[in-house]
Amino acid sequence: MKANEIGQNPWTREQMTADVQEFAELYSKRPLQQNTGGMGAPHMFATWFIARRLAPEFIVESGIWRGQSTWLLEQACPDAEIHSIDLYLDKRIYISPRVHYHDSDFTEIDWTDIAGPRALVFFDDHQDAYNRLMQSYWFGFEHVIFEDNYPLGKAISTR
Ligand SMILES: C[S@@+](CC[C@H](N)C(=O)[O-])C[C@H]1O[C@@H](n2cnc3c(N)ncnc32)[C@H](O)[C@@H]1O
Repeated sequence: MKANEIGQNPWTREQMTADVQEFAELYSKRPLQQNTGGMGAPHMFATWFIARRLAPEFIVESGIWRGQSTWLLEQACPDAEIHSIDLYLDKRIYISPRVHYHDSDFTEIDWTDIAGPRALVFFDDHQDAYNRLMQSYWFGFEHVIFEDNYPLGKAISTR
């Protein structure tokens, strides 16, 4: 596969639409009704759907903000060991007793024991995505989600 190819879609449109209603019910129970500066419903659905399908044993979340995405990952993978990172943990509103919180950068924690096919990394920390991908690869992570769109007019051309 060339670098600019997307590859096979692992899930069908039918599988995704079949889960929308369940997500809508979950979404109505979200801890933060307004999540300004964090994820909204469309990206939350995508993350929840992917995380549920992957069913990782370990999740590393980088970029907590007020905690909505932490809650979402917990809902998607209730049995996973979750490590959540933010340099400013005092901004959290939703705080889970079963999540391991860290206030060091992703690169300053040794993930080699949990990295691999059973782990998922979720980046919403507004850092350089290419560097984050290389750092994840170095640790041995295979599943990485990048949250956020490019700013308007800044999408990368693959040509
Ligand atoms: C967009 S917010 C995260 C929103 C959250 N994921 C949600 O959807 O509710 C970005 C967060 O990244 C944090 N951040 C900035 N630099 C970081 C770093 N190097 N590592 C981890 N988090 C970082 C910021 O403090 C901020 O809380």
